[in-house]
Amino acid sequence: MTAYLDHAADTPVLPAAAEAVLAELTRSGNASALHSSGRAARRVVEESREEVAAALGARPGEVVLTGGGTESDNLAVKGLFWARQGEDPRRTRVLVSSVEHHGVLDPAHWLGQHPAGLRAQVEELPVDGEGRLRVDALRESLERDPASVALVSVMWANNEVGTLQPLAEVVELAARHGVPVHSDAVQAVGQVPVDFAASGLTALSFTGHKLGGTTGVGGLVLRRGTSLVPVLHGGGQEGGVRSGSVDAAAARGLAVATTAAVSTLAERSAGLRALRDQLEAAVLAAVPDAVVRGASRAEDRLPGILHVTVPGAEGDALLYLLDARGVECSTGSACTAGVPQPSHVLRAMGLSDADAAGALRFSLGRTSTAADVALVAEVLGPVVERARTAGLALAGS
Ligand SMILES: Cc1ncc(COP(=O)(O)O)c(C=O)c1O
Repeated sequence: MTAYLDHAADTPVLPAAAEAVLAELTRSGNASALHSSGRAARRVVEESREEVAAALGARPGEVVLTGGGTESDNLAVKGLFWARQGEDPRRTRVLVSSVEHHGVLDPAHWLGQHPAGLRAQVEELPVDGEGRLRVDALRESLERDPASVALVSVMWANNEVGTLQPLAEVVELAARHGVPVHSDAVQAVGQVPVDFAASGLTALSFTGHKLGGTTGVGGLVLRRGTSLVPVLHGGGQEGGVRSGSVDAAAARGLAVATTAAVSTLAERSAGLRALRDQLEAAVLAAVPDAVVRGASRAEDRLPGILHVTVPGAEGDALLYLLDARGVECSTGSACTAGVPQPSHVLRAMGLSDADAAGALRFSLGRTSTAADVALVAEVLGPVVERARTAGLALAGS
């Protein structure tokens, strides 16, 4: 048996979404073409856009279809920065939380270093020990010189530890100074209620493969009337904001998956939370000195993520040993060129590199069951023992 507990990285495509994609894949017609097949493909795209918009509390015209979360984040950060700079060159500052996904952090820092571009000044705002943005730091930074802020980007929910961010306060503060706010909601859509109109955000990123759609499709919800400089230039699709032929089949799957994820959210998240609590109890029973990370209050974190650090063991060793016993999870942070790095999220939360080294993220989803929890309960104790012994042997050699 395999316990797949890495839904925050990729969750299985919903069967109804797979069927919808397949039905569209075998049709011909570029959605930009003027003949009947093209117009039929365009209808599929526009109906899908309407469904996605309805599920996210947005207007259809506000949904820009993209190639996924990373692209949406890049489009928001670079596009908003360039547009705001174009309006007023004094707007050089980009404020981001220090626990953003690399999809936001890296384009922000790229703007700060790009020699040919307009030099952004990137400020990474601190978080508390649970990974939540320190709103006082944002306030101080905004009020220091509001006219110089191009944009603020704070994620809806963190992908490693699952902490929900205080977005309402962020939006309220930024609005006082007329500063647009982007939020990476890749982990939030389908997990917690997300209403774009009610959020007051200027832009919001989401992606298909975290909610039952296919990989390589997603979107940026962009508030009506917002100026944005495109990253991709070409055929002028998606209102000129994102050139490139639109993948009608993927858009169909995205619509089916987003609608399903949002309409089943309440019952699914209650089930996920209960299973997550069982998993947490099982992990702590097997490894009593493991430390659960992220928000301590259930309402402040995603229902499906359990993040722990295991003292005296390397996350990668744990991951491989668990995999060999049928448990698939993650350390939560990416490797750089195959070399494990301490997570920037855990570092920002104040953990030492030694404490951050033993990180494991279990993330549950639609297909998770009590049998998955039982397998973790069975294998985790011996796996941790083995990883610790291996670590000691390496340290002694
Ligand atoms: C918070 C967050 N943002 C962005 C991404 C990137 O999304 P995509 O894989 O669709 O490019 C991920 C994926 O792990 C994520 O968790």
